[in-house]
Amino acid sequence: MNTIAEKKLNETFMAGSCSPANKRLFSAVVSVNKQIGRRFFRLELEFSAADAEVLANCQPGQFAQLDLSATALPPAEAIPENLVDVASRKILLRRPFSFADVTVKGDKTFVDILYCVVGPASLRMTTVSAGDSVSVIGPLGNGFCVPEGKSITLLVSGGMGAGPLLYLAKVLTADYPQLEVIAFAGAKTASQLPFEARLDEISQQLGFSLGEFAKYGVESIVATDDGSAGFAGLVTNCLTEWLDRHTLAAKDMIIYSCGPEAMLARVAEIAEERKLDCQLSMERMMACGIGLCQSCAVECKATDSSETTYKLCCKDGPVFNSREVTFSL
Ligand SMILES: Cc1cc2nc3c(=O)[nH]c(=O)nc-3n(C[C@H](O)[C@H](O)[C@H](O)COP(=O)(O)OP(=O)(O)OC[C@H]3O[C@@H](n4cnc5c(N)ncnc54)[C@H](O)[C@@H]3O)c2cc1C
Ligand code: FES
Repeated sequence: MNTIAEKKLNETFMAGSCSPANKRLFSAVVSVNKQIGRRFFRLELEFSAADAEVLANCQPGQFAQLDLSATALPPAEAIPENLVDVASRKILLRRPFSFADVTVKGDKTFVDILYCVVGPASLRMTTVSAGDSVSVIGPLGNGFCVPEGKSITLLVSGGMGAGPLLYLAKVLTADYPQLEVIAFAGAKTASQLPFEARLDEISQQLGFSLGEFAKYGVESIVATDDGSAGFAGLVTNCLTEWLDRHTLAAKDMIIYSCGPEAMLARVAEIAEERKLDCQLSMERMMACGIGLCQSCAVECKATDSSETTYKLCCKDGPVFNSREVTFSL
C-alpha cells in the first residue's frame, strides 16, 4: 500500500525537479538477493523509519554507492572462469548501482537493484543474504525529467541498462497516465536479457511483453544482436524501424536511454537526426560518487562556444541531455 512518502516522490518527479535528494550514509538490511539469470541478480534492500522516508523520495535515474569491501567471496566452484584471477582483489571503493524499483510499504521502503556479475565487487555481492547489513550512500546524482507536452515516451535499454528504466516505467505510468510508454530492451543474446521472464516464453515476435514492464502496463519490444529473441539486430536498429513505421510528431516524443556507451551514442544520433528530446543515463568508473575526486568526467558541449567542457557523471549526471554529450567512440 502506498503512503504519504510515496506520494511525495511522485510530486517531486512531476515538478520536473532533477535536483538530488538529500544524500546520506545508510545501513540497509538485505531482504532478497535472488539470481534471475546466469550472471544476473536482483537485490532488494530494506530501509526503516527516517531512512525509509529519504529513500522513498529518490528519483528514477539516481543511484547509490554500496560498500562491498567486507563481503565474502562465493566458494571457488561458483566463481566464473573469467573472474578467477580478479576475484580476490581488495575492494577499496564503493560501487555505484541504480534503483530498479522503490516500493513503500507502511514505514519501510524497499529498494531493488538489478546487477550483473562482472568483477570482484559484484561477485561478492552474490553472497549477501536476507538479514545481512549493507552500507549504502545515496540517493546520488540527478534523475530523469519529464518535459511538458509529451505524449509518447520510448525507453531504450541495453543489457543492465534496463534497471533504472524499469523504475522510470513505474513512475511514468503512475504519475502520467496520459503518456504512452514503450520499452525497447536489447541484449547480445536472449540469455543476457536481465529479466526474470523464462527464456522459453520469449517469443520471436515483436511486441512480446516482458513481465517486468507489463506489470506497469508498458509494452516492451525485445531485440537481440543474434536474433535469439525478438527483433534480430541492435536495439537501436529496432528503435529506428519503429520510428519509421510510426508517423508521430517529434515534439510529442521523448527517449530515455541507459546502456553501453556505443548504444547511447547511437541513440543520441537517432534523436538528433529526428529532432527528438532524449535523456541518457551515462556510466563512468566512480571513486567517490559525490563530486570530490573528479574521476567520472563526461565530455560535454559548452553552451556558449564550440569548445567542450567536462561535467561530473556522479553529480551533474548520471542523466544528461543527449544534445550536450560529446561521444568519442
Ligand atoms: C551511475 C551508475 C549506475 C550503475 N548501475 C548499475 C546497475 O544498476 N547494475 C549493474 O549491474 N551495474 C551498474 N553499474 C555498473 C557497476 O557500478 C559496475 O559494474 C561495478 O563497478 C562492478 O564492480 P566490480 O568490482 O564487480 O567490477 P569492476 O572490476 O569494477 O569492473 C569490471 C569491468 O567493468 C568495467 N566497468 C565497471 N564499471 C564501469 C563503468 N561505470 N563504466 C564503464 N565500465 C565499467 C571495468 O572497467 C571492468 O572492465 C552502474 C554504474 C554507474 C556509474
Ligand atoms: S566519482 Fe568522484 S567526482 Fe564523480
